[in-house]
Amino acid sequence: MTTTTAAESRSTDPVAGENRSTENRTVDSRTADLERRIAQDPGGFRVLTGDRPTGALHLGHYFGSLRNRVRLQDLGVDVIVLIPDYQVITDRDTAERLGEYTDGLLLDYLALGIDPARSTVFCHSAVPALNQLMLPFLSLVSVAELNRNPTVKDEIAHSRQSTVSGLMLTYPVHQAADILSCKGNLVPVGRDQAPHLEVTRTIARRFNERYGQVFPEPDILLSAAPLLLGTDGTKMSKSRANSVPLSATADETARLLKSATTDADRHITYDPATRPNVSSLVLLAALCIDRDPHEVAAEIGDGGAAALKRTVTDAVNGHLATFRARRAEYAKDLTYVRSVLRAGNERANALAETTLDEVREAMGAFR
Ligand code: TRP
Repeated sequence: MTTTTAAESRSTDPVAGENRSTENRTVDSRTADLERRIAQDPGGFRVLTGDRPTGALHLGHYFGSLRNRVRLQDLGVDVIVLIPDYQVITDRDTAERLGEYTDGLLLDYLALGIDPARSTVFCHSAVPALNQLMLPFLSLVSVAELNRNPTVKDEIAHSRQSTVSGLMLTYPVHQAADILSCKGNLVPVGRDQAPHLEVTRTIARRFNERYGQVFPEPDILLSAAPLLLGTDGTKMSKSRANSVPLSATADETARLLKSATTDADRHITYDPATRPNVSSLVLLAALCIDRDPHEVAAEIGDGGAAALKRTVTDAVNGHLATFRARRAEYAKDLTYVRSVLRAGNERANALAETTLDEVREAMGAFR
């Protein structure tokens, strides 16, 4: 559950194959180098990462990032998981069902093996000193730089809001405050977050140059996120009704997977480029049972979509059985679950206050 699986190392990297660009190879060798350094000195790393509380975490999150956090924790890295509640209002007017989503995230983290004795979970709105870093940090980036951020541009293009808020444009700066308030130096995220990490590195570097050394320049740890499609054939997403949530029961999971889009060819193969829907289901099964997706597809052969869906449902439900049992246990004790967040908020406050003191000290005139 916590190591790189056969299925992952063989075929889940969306850029794997003959067409790897030089840039991708550079990224891979940088990731391998970081992994070596982490293995040598796990205590030298502090991870900061998080999930917006805008819905239930799903299988895409699980294989893309969640189990990697548990792996890093188990290696001895200081893992801090942020529930970035203020980020919810970057692309929507209000934060709906925040309490419910936050409880859900906490249950998922605990059931997956995030251990509150070793790792920390906190939320933005409970840490004033973090939010205060936003002011000096905003002074370190230009409006042109903010306007150029490709991930923000994409979010603006797909936003359901009619105007672009100041927060939409500046939340990457706030994300720098997330990371730098606790001096995280390792940020495991997907490729879409790379521009934000560049903002963080720029802010850290400029602050250090202008006022003296305070911040690390954090490294991004790119996850080889498998591309799992939602049941409607588009990217699996928390806020679209197309995901298989981790919190779903075995029956709900079976129903959701049964409704997944496939194609007319009865012969099952693994070929993401030409058969994205079928291949995504094959890949999901392969990830769950730690097998090569080509082999999984070959075994289903002419069984068609029905056999494929049976295979993937059994694989998912088998893989998640222990997780679900643990999640159900934690769900009986929400008082405990919420106390984990309270303790995490306390630690995050202590870290952020120390950092803010250092920032004021470095900047001189401010108190
Ligand atoms: N922007 C991230 C996302 O949408 C969530 C996030 C907020 C984050 N603050 C962070 C991730 C700090 C890593 C580090 O998924």
